[in-house]
Parts: sequence; structure tokens; C-alpha cells
Amino acid sequence: MNKNYSIRPERQDEHRAVENLVRESFWNVYKPGCAEHYVLHVLRDDPAFVPELDFVMERDGRLIGQNIFMKTFIEADDGRTVDVLTMGPICITPELKRKGYGKAILDHSLEKAKEMGYGAVLFEGNIDFYGKSGFDVASRFGIRYHDLPEDADASFFLCKELIPGYLDDVTGVYQTPKGYYVEDEDVEEFDKDFPPKEKLKLPGQIFL
Ligand SMILES: CC(C)(COP(=O)(O)OP(=O)(O)OC[C@H]1O[C@@H](n2cnc3c(N)ncnc32)[C@H](O)[C@@H]1OP(=O)(O)O)[C@@H](O)C(=O)NCCC(=O)NCCS
Repeated sequence: MNKNYSIRPERQDEHRAVENLVRESFWNVYKPGCAEHYVLHVLRDDPAFVPELDFVMERDGRLIGQNIFMKTFIEADDGRTVDVLTMGPICITPELKRKGYGKAILDHSLEKAKEMGYGAVLFEGNIDFYGKSGFDVASRFGIRYHDLPEDADASFFLCKELIPGYLDDVTGVYQTPKGYYVEDEDVEEFDKDFPPKEKLKLPGQIFL
């Protein structure tokens, strides 16, 4: 794609604008309304948040995308705690989806995470998108998703090594950072400060 965008760290004075971008991008995608703008708001103050990996994407002076990372860990079967990263929310403004911007900010931020010395990134996502940036299902690395029955479909749970071989001798259970779990009532309250938007039940939403 033509490089008609820039990727840079998020600034403090644009937190609300970025939260609004996240809200616009996730609204009615996975459920009626969304929680991701509040999740981002909460995560920025979490000790596990990695401020150096908090990126926004700009085009023609307008915010069009963002991505963030959090520190977390794998509880290895041999008793070790293995430090890894998880990621998101990540988004691209709805009117510019499927033009390559998502892959561009993803690849840029993964490269920066690698430069900082992180070994692997694990999270929940769609392999059709993340597979293009080198993610595979985490089960291939011997990593299991917390609280998931052994026979359940774990194809949503993805992993990419930033340091090749980082997980070679590791099997274990990945833990989602606590900060991602927010209360519906808190999301509702937070959402009142944003422009009104209609919540819709739509086909394809996974959380109803
Ligand atoms: C997911 C998201 C960040 C992807 O960004 P994007 O700019 O739309 O994606 P790209 O154009 O860079 O996609 C690159 C490739 O990934 C694949 N891809 C992207 N989104 C996909 C989707 N929803 N389903 C299947 N494949 C997808 C495609 O192969 C695409 O290439 P193609 O368009 O030439 O076929 C963006 O669509 C978004 O913000 N979605 C709403 C919020 C969200 O779901 N965030 C991720 C939560 S895990």
C-alpha cells in the first residue's frame, strides 16, 4: 500500500479522541454496543500497560487507528512463570477497513515490541487477519487458554513468537490480564459521556 499514514505514540491530550475512535470501530461488531473504549481507558492506568507500545495511526491529520500492549504471563507446567505480551484493543476506523492499515499498525507495533526484547504475544483474535502477520493458533506452541475445557475449540487463541524459539520448551496456561475484565455498569456509565449511538443486535456478533 502507499504510505499515506504515520504511526506514532499516543499523546495524553488525545486520550478521549482515541477512545472515541475505538468506540466507533468496535460498536455493534461483537455485541450490541461495545466495551473496548472503556477497556482502553482502564488499561492505560494499569501497571501491566506498556506505554512505549501505545500507538496511534494518523492520515491527513486525522486519527484512523490504534493499538496497545499489556504485560502478562504463562503459568508453565514446570512451575515457571514465563513473561509474554498480550495486545489490544486494536482498531481501524470503520470507513478505512480492509485497505491494509490494520496490518500496517499491527506489524509496526510488533516490530517495536520485538525491539524492546519481548519474547511472544498471545491474545484472542481472528486468524484470517492475524495469520498474515505471522500469528498461529497458540495450541501449536503448547499454550492453553485459561478456564477453557480441554475439548473446547481454542482456534481463537493466537500466538506469535517475537524471539524465535522463545516458547520452545514451554507448555502451560496463558492468563488474560485482570484489567480486561470490566463491569457492564461501568461501561454504561462511561459511555454516557460519548455521543449517543444505537445498540443493535446484528448477525455475526459473538457476544449477545
Ligand atoms: C480488525 C481490524 C483492526 C483489521 O484492520 P483492517 O485495516 O481492516 O485490516 P487489513 O486491511 O490490514 O487486513 C489485512 C488482511 O487481513 C484479512 N482480514 C482483515 N480483516 C478481516 C476480517 N474481518 N475477516 C477476515 N479477514 C480479515 C484480510 O485477508 C485482509 O486482506 P484483504 O483485505 O486483502 O483480504 C479492523 O477491521 C477493525 O478495527 N475491526 C473492528 C475492531 C476489531 O475487530 N478489532 C480487532 C479485535 S481482535
